[in-house]
Amino acid sequence: MHIQISVPNLLSLTHLFVILTLCASYKENFDDSSKFFTNYNRAAEIEKHCSSYLSLASKLSPDANRGNRIKRELSFTYGDWEQENGHTTLMPFDRSNGFEHSLALKLVSFKVMDISSIQHFENTVSLGGIMSIGISGQGSYFPTKSSSSFTMRPGLSLLRIAFEGVYLQSNDHENGKEHLMCLLGNTTLPIPEPFNYDWNDMFLDYSLLQDEQILLVLRYPQTFNLTRRSIRGEMRSLHQEGSLAYFDNVHISSQLNRHAVYQFSSESKSRSCDPYPYELDFAAYGANSFNNGSDFCSFLQKVAQRPFYLFGVENFRLLFQYLICEEETDSNNVQSARVSAVLRAFPASMSLDTVQSRTGLSNQTLSAEGSWNSLTGKLCMIGCHGVVDPGLNSKECNYQISFHFPSMLSIKQRSLMLGTIHSNSNNDESNIFFFPFLHSLRRPTDLKGLGLHNTPYYNYSKVELAAAIKSKNQHSKLFTLFKKLFFKYPTLVDGDDINRLSNKLNVYVIAIRHQSSNKHDRVYMQMEVLSLGTSHQHERKNLFGNPLLNISLHLTLSEGYWDENADSYPFFLEGVYDPLEGDMHLIGCRMFSQGIDCLMEVKVQYPSESIRWLKNPSVEMIITSQRSEEDPRHFKPITLRTQMIQYNEHQQDYEFRKILEGVLRLLISLAGAGIIWSQLIYMNANEDKTPYMSLGTLYILIFGYGAELIRASEIFFESKESASIRTWPYQLQNYQRVLMESMETLTKLLVLASLLLTINQYRKVSDAKNKPNAYGTIKPKPLRRISDATRRYLRIFICICLILSCLGGDLNLRYAFVILPATIVREYIRLTLKMQDLFLLPQIFENKLWSNQVKPLRKTYYFGLTFLRLVIFFYDYIRDPILDPFNNYNDGGGGINNQVGSDLLSFCLIMLSSPLVMIGLAFVVYIQQSWNYLKPRNA
Ligand SMILES: *[C@@H]1O[C@H](CO)[C@@H](O)[C@H](O)[C@H]1NC(C)=O
Ligand SMILES: *[C@@H]1O[C@H](CO)[C@@H](O)[C@H](O)[C@H]1NC(C)=O
Ligand SMILES: *[C@@H]1O[C@H](CO)[C@@H](O)[C@H](O)[C@H]1NC(C)=O
Ligand SMILES: *[C@@H]1O[C@H](CO)[C@@H](O)[C@H](O)[C@H]1NC(C)=O
Ligand SMILES: *[C@@H]1O[C@H](CO)[C@@H](O)[C@H](O)[C@H]1NC(C)=O
Ligand SMILES: *[C@@H]1O[C@H](CO)[C@@H](O)[C@H](O)[C@H]1NC(C)=O
Repeated sequence: MHIQISVPNLLSLTHLFVILTLCASYKENFDDSSKFFTNYNRAAEIEKHCSSYLSLASKLSPDANRGNRIKRELSFTYGDWEQENGHTTLMPFDRSNGFEHSLALKLVSFKVMDISSIQHFENTVSLGGIMSIGISGQGSYFPTKSSSSFTMRPGLSLLRIAFEGVYLQSNDHENGKEHLMCLLGNTTLPIPEPFNYDWNDMFLDYSLLQDEQILLVLRYPQTFNLTRRSIRGEMRSLHQEGSLAYFDNVHISSQLNRHAVYQFSSESKSRSCDPYPYELDFAAYGANSFNNGSDFCSFLQKVAQRPFYLFGVENFRLLFQYLICEEETDSNNVQSARVSAVLRAFPASMSLDTVQSRTGLSNQTLSAEGSWNSLTGKLCMIGCHGVVDPGLNSKECNYQISFHFPSMLSIKQRSLMLGTIHSNSNNDESNIFFFPFLHSLRRPTDLKGLGLHNTPYYNYSKVELAAAIKSKNQHSKLFTLFKKLFFKYPTLVDGDDINRLSNKLNVYVIAIRHQSSNKHDRVYMQMEVLSLGTSHQHERKNLFGNPLLNISLHLTLSEGYWDENADSYPFFLEGVYDPLEGDMHLIGCRMFSQGIDCLMEVKVQYPSESIRWLKNPSVEMIITSQRSEEDPRHFKPITLRTQMIQYNEHQQDYEFRKILEGVLRLLISLAGAGIIWSQLIYMNANEDKTPYMSLGTLYILIFGYGAELIRASEIFFESKESASIRTWPYQLQNYQRVLMESMETLTKLLVLASLLLTINQYRKVSDAKNKPNAYGTIKPKPLRRISDATRRYLRIFICICLILSCLGGDLNLRYAFVILPATIVREYIRLTLKMQDLFLLPQIFENKLWSNQVKPLRKTYYFGLTFLRLVIFFYDYIRDPILDPFNNYNDGGGGINNQVGSDLLSFCLIMLSSPLVMIGLAFVVYIQQSWNYLKPRNA
């Protein structure tokens, strides 16, 4: 079986690919420095247009490495750009492929390419660089090499502009110390064709116009802080408004990169988290403790990598970027840490990679700064909205962000970090808002890597309810007793630790999901134990007085199993696990936009460990809604059945099964030979009954045993192994080799003995039939004819079936001369083997038509051989194929040798007993005959 290649999977794969290409190609674009060339011949123009900045230039301190530092520190990628509201947009954008304009990103990157060795103006450095500025719909990418400076295709527009100009350091009262660049650009601008002036519509006809009248000013704070953390830029056209090459001013924003120094403000430290204006009692969750500031920082760095969920805004997520966390120790030994970050909100549909690579500050970002200390256990931050450089007391900085680190987990609380953003602007009512948000603990195993001083404890609240549901749904005592006696489920053994049982209960496997009758699909099920309680003080007992275990879990169902970032929110489960019956009764909760829905019941049945050698273990689950059908949140019961789960003892089970099957074959052949021997003794003692034996029956048996001896696979029933198991290393197959081989040889000898004994019987019967007066007073002729007819009927049918099975494929020469004969032989053998199941049929017909009470077959023979056939049939029916538990995605069961023509074969077998009535008739006759056998002889 193959992983389903569903459309969403494909799309997300394509998406991933595209994002990677985007990143790769974008970088390549910039590293293409060989293409960049400037001869610094625009000094006069620069002097004219940059004069106001040139006058700000402060003296540059001597620095031999300045050129490299400028290149490294003043380049940026994936900033944002926006145009002033105007009429002349910089470039058209083709959204004809359904790219939503609202999701299109306006991205800009700048790279310093060249530093001039000549100083053209006092206190400046002359340099050149390239800007790539564009609009990218999701799913499009920036081209690797473009010959022209403007590229457009559906979902993508990209303009490259070459700049040359000056770098200087300024220090004015308004902006503080800054790095500043004033540059003039040269490119070919896309100009709308006449009469097609409105680019906000879909007019995409344009021509290119050489333009060198572009001025760019970029400003970088020398040290950055909460209110000054962005690179700001402005690009404008030096043409008159109304001229062809004119465009409205472009504003640029990006982040300073890691090389810049961050300065924490003193004010953010003294602010405390005000109480919430709304009722939200995070305090009830307790506060997790950290040893010291550095432990706190490493925790924060790890946890804050994943996006946060926003309550009430289902379609948005929140991501930490540019996180800086520094530990501090107060004078009175209070552990604390200072934290700075950018919080970026983004649509849930946007790929995380895209979001992470963005650097611009916009109205979807909050710059935040604050501190954590071990006394409060909270992290309180001030937030400033957007890109402007306001004072701390301005409206933009009126956001309060606070974080809690709960020490308690429960059915509804599964986060390690919870927070709120709260704006309470006095002068702007519309600006008041309040967003709780939380970090999603994706997998309980993530807890281990976080270096928490204390792992949060779990507060059970639904175990009573779950236990009540369990006792309500209790099976009968007898069934439970049966389960207890024969089946063993994962449980705690003395000396075991909880982790071992948890690991056994974790499930990571593909499952088939059914909801309502016609809907089913494949999902990847990941279920992990969060907590498992074993307290012996308050234990509830099940039927046999064994304790039920408190348990809590996370369950995620996602489309593809490789999709670690799948954005589906997990189910939170809590309830009881019964190690005796291997089932869990759980209450389930799931987040939705406005809150959490806990009206769900989940029942899980684990597979028994004691029959894993026979049936591949799979977990079954039913999720039902407890809501009434009118409720919009009601859903139809969902059932899930997993593929074979992974477990460690598979090798032992495999060996056990191989040996057991060997023993079973040996016992069957032994019993068979014994039964035939006893029939021979019976025939010697009752010679008068011998002619009544059916030669058809013996004929079937002789050929059956013959076929068993020459079949390629194991005798009676072949071992069902998947292709990947067959290719396991030889020593794995090689266990108990001597034992297996001697059993096999013995089995073959016994089958050979059965064959010879049956041939002997056949000779005796046909001799007896040929004796004059063999049937006493009854006329033999018509009966013999019937017996012959049966035989002929069988022969003809075997031939027809063989031809039918062979005609299944296309006929060509190779087929006719190589494959066909081989197929005929193989099919003949298979058919003969199958025929064994019907060995009594000729005898039954003959007995019926004979309509006399003579019993030529011994009871042991009649029932014994039937019983052996039933054992084989039954065992073959109930056992599962042996799969490789760690490789069953590729294996499924499709790995088992496909039985060519077996459909045709069953068709033939049905034909054999057709019309259908015959089957019923045969059954009735069989019952009647059996009854005759059981009746006392003298009747
Ligand atoms: C602008 O670029 C074009 C083509 O690369 C070139 O011919 C022209 O001289 C450049 N203009 C300036 C002022 O460098
Ligand atoms: C950030 O730095 C600027 C100047 O560099 C200064 O005016 C502003 O007050 C600082 N902001 C804070 C929050 O310290
Ligand atoms: C913080 O505590 C951990 C122990 O949990 C210790 O290993 C580490 O050195 C401490 N760090 C500092 C800066 O004290
Ligand atoms: C950001 O703000 C600008 C104006 O300040 C507004 O036009 C735009 O719609 C805002 N974007 C979002 C996503 O709120
Ligand atoms: C467990 O949760 C309940 C509320 O569900 C609360 O009343 C109780 O105090 C909590 N127990 C502890 C130990 O935190
Ligand atoms: C299991 O849950 C019950 C009910 O909340 C509680 O009394 C008991 O202490 C729990 N056991 C453990 C080990 O937490």
